[in-house]
Amino acid sequence: QSLKIGLVPADGIGREVIPAARTAIEALGSDIPKPQFIDLLAGFELFTKTGTALPEETIAALRECDCALFGAVSSPSKRVTGYSSPIVALRKELDLYANIRPVVSVAANPSGKPSVDLVVVRENTECLYVKQETIIATENGREARATRLITERASRRIGRMAFELALTRPRKEPGKFDDVTIAEQLVDSAVYRLFREPEIYDIMVAPNLYGDIISDAAAALVGSLGLVPSINAGDNFVMGEPVHGSAPDIAGKEIANPIASIRSAALMLRRLGYIQGADRIDNAVDEVVRQGTVLTPDLGGKSKTHEVVDAIIKRI
Ligand code: NAI
Ligand code: MG
Repeated sequence: QSLKIGLVPADGIGREVIPAARTAIEALGSDIPKPQFIDLLAGFELFTKTGTALPEETIAALRECDCALFGAVSSPSKRVTGYSSPIVALRKELDLYANIRPVVSVAANPSGKPSVDLVVVRENTECLYVKQETIIATENGREARATRLITERASRRIGRMAFELALTRPRKEPGKFDDVTIAEQLVDSAVYRLFREPEIYDIMVAPNLYGDIISDAAAALVGSLGLVPSINAGDNFVMGEPVHGSAPDIAGKEIANPIASIRSAALMLRRLGYIQGADRIDNAVDEVVRQGTVLTPDLGGKSKTHEVVDAIIKRI
């Protein structure tokens, strides 16, 4: 028996950090079924070369996999005819309706920032990402319109996912949905409070765009976007993905922090029930971060990506 894992590094530092996650999975040995990796293409660079950002073969191959890891895509800031984001398309194609993003501070934070231990549960299929956008000419000049879709169905299932997660949290709600405390909050003051008193938050469930913004903000509180993992989860498939993007400012310099991707692999394995393997990866990462001697520049260190990977592998 083997574990078939699709790898979609896509653009920029995705190509540097997904191989790192692969190495971490390989280091687990018999804690998981023998991994079989399938390399798959997607991304903006692929689009510029071939005219397609998400080949049919990639989607078809992913459907045959047990799980997958996605790196990051570069999205042009201006509209490019024929291009749309492959990650947005994949989340829809595979019905990965929840993006689960645990944000946890590990090392004693040198900046003295408060400690964070929360999970952002981001709706992953609708909101402004449905890409129903038009530009029309009016007598007052051009007008851009975008649909922000929120359906009852998607809201219910993301809510259910958040409740299920609440029951597994260390703060331990008693075990019934009825016992989970809900507080509604507007996004602007939620971000404000997140920065002032992050400890009040356990799970933050949000529509697609707000969930994205909240999780990047929370990443700042724990030190770097390069630390924060996620899974795209549906009822039938799971795809790990670091929260960060393709980081063109550091791509190719071999200094991308691989931890977000490595932790995404752990999160993916945990979701599939390989708890021991996931724990081994997470514990190794925790040790390396706590020790603080082998870190990439985003965390104030001087190490290269591969040096951090080596330090983690040694501990796994
Ligand atoms: P970004 O997340 O790529 O980078 C933001 C900042 O964080 C940069 O200074 C970057 O160097 C740093 N950073 C991110 N990940 C890091 C890591 N692993 N190690 C060290 N430093 C790290 O966001 P940005 O710059 O706004 O977007 C760049 C491109 O990525 C854009 O084309 C954007 O559309 C795309 N993007 C893709 C996402 C995805 O594939 N899901 C998510 C977010 C952005
Ligand atoms: Mg983001």
